[in-house]
Amino acid sequence: MKRIFSGMQPTGNLHLGNYLGAVRNWVSLQHDYECFFCIVDMHAITVPQNPTELQRATREVTAAYIASGVDPKRCAIYHQSALGGYHAELSWILGTITPLGWLNRMTQFKEKAGKRREQASLGLFGYPVLMAADILLYHATHVPVGEDQKQHLELARDIAGAFNNQFEEDFFPLPEPQIFGEATRVMSLRDGTSKMSKSDTSDQSRINLTDDADAIAQKIKRAKTDPEMLPEQIEGLEGRHEAANLVGIYAALSDKTTSEVLSEFGGKGFGQFKPALADLAVSVLSPITSEMRRLLADPAEIDLMIADGATRARTVAEPILKRTKELVGFLEV
Ligand code: TYM
Repeated sequence: MKRIFSGMQPTGNLHLGNYLGAVRNWVSLQHDYECFFCIVDMHAITVPQNPTELQRATREVTAAYIASGVDPKRCAIYHQSALGGYHAELSWILGTITPLGWLNRMTQFKEKAGKRREQASLGLFGYPVLMAADILLYHATHVPVGEDQKQHLELARDIAGAFNNQFEEDFFPLPEPQIFGEATRVMSLRDGTSKMSKSDTSDQSRINLTDDADAIAQKIKRAKTDPEMLPEQIEGLEGRHEAANLVGIYAALSDKTTSEVLSEFGGKGFGQFKPALADLAVSVLSPITSEMRRLLADPAEIDLMIADGATRARTVAEPILKRTKELVGFLEV
């Protein structure tokens, strides 16, 4: 059986990278897989969050999933803390078989902790173990994510393998990452060498899913570029990070390949390309933004949907966690 688990943190400022790198792919995968799409609030609190804002963002991410086309009837959509005990319990068990050396290699921890490593929390260090628990708790076989999560998924596979080895049963499937599309790594609009991110202090660096048409057009107009024309061949984008990023975004939004976009815009300048990109971005994102607003106007309805998703998730998770505990040797009385 093919089963998908993926998630997103409710930390505000959902952006074009989250959409193109993840959610949009989920929409097309939901027809072929049994899907679990989580709003990972337990991951969010590995860095300080404002409690009221966390609740608001949890509903906003739910609305973003649904507005983007993830169908709550087809997929289980729910927040991680609704099954908090299950995720945390499996994470603890997996943590006991995960060597510190593996976690020390995680680049995202290094980036997030920065120079303040000694002040970073145990939760932040264990973030990838909780992620492995998320996936393995449902025996997910596939995990669609953006490029930045690749290392965490390799770790989840290693942890699954280590567990199976130690307890001598082929219990956890080794989850396959699904990283695809033309925008697996959307970069900042201000700096083509750094990732578009929720935590960038400059709002000009990203297109938020809540931005209106004017804001989107302004941000694209001001996006950093170079003085050259667009090339006709992909090789011509080498070393031109900002140009490559904008062309990649155009390709992803229009469902074209980079080559197709260059055959249309090669030889043209950004004066022509940027307005076309802005129009395209607005035409794709505006319906999502307005559907998000409509959904968010009725928070009680959103809460009902995620309560239903949590019930469905629990049905699948319960027997898997039960068997895990048997394998480990916990006494059931
Ligand atoms: P988060 O919230 O940081 O990111 C959510 C998804 O968006 C993708 N993404 C991007 N894709 C392309 N370009 C970008 N600039 C960009 N920024 C973010 C991420 O790759 C991700 O797919 N740790 C996960 C959440 C998580 C999870 C899981 C995912 C928790 N448990 C289990 C899969 C399976 C994360 O990155 O969230």
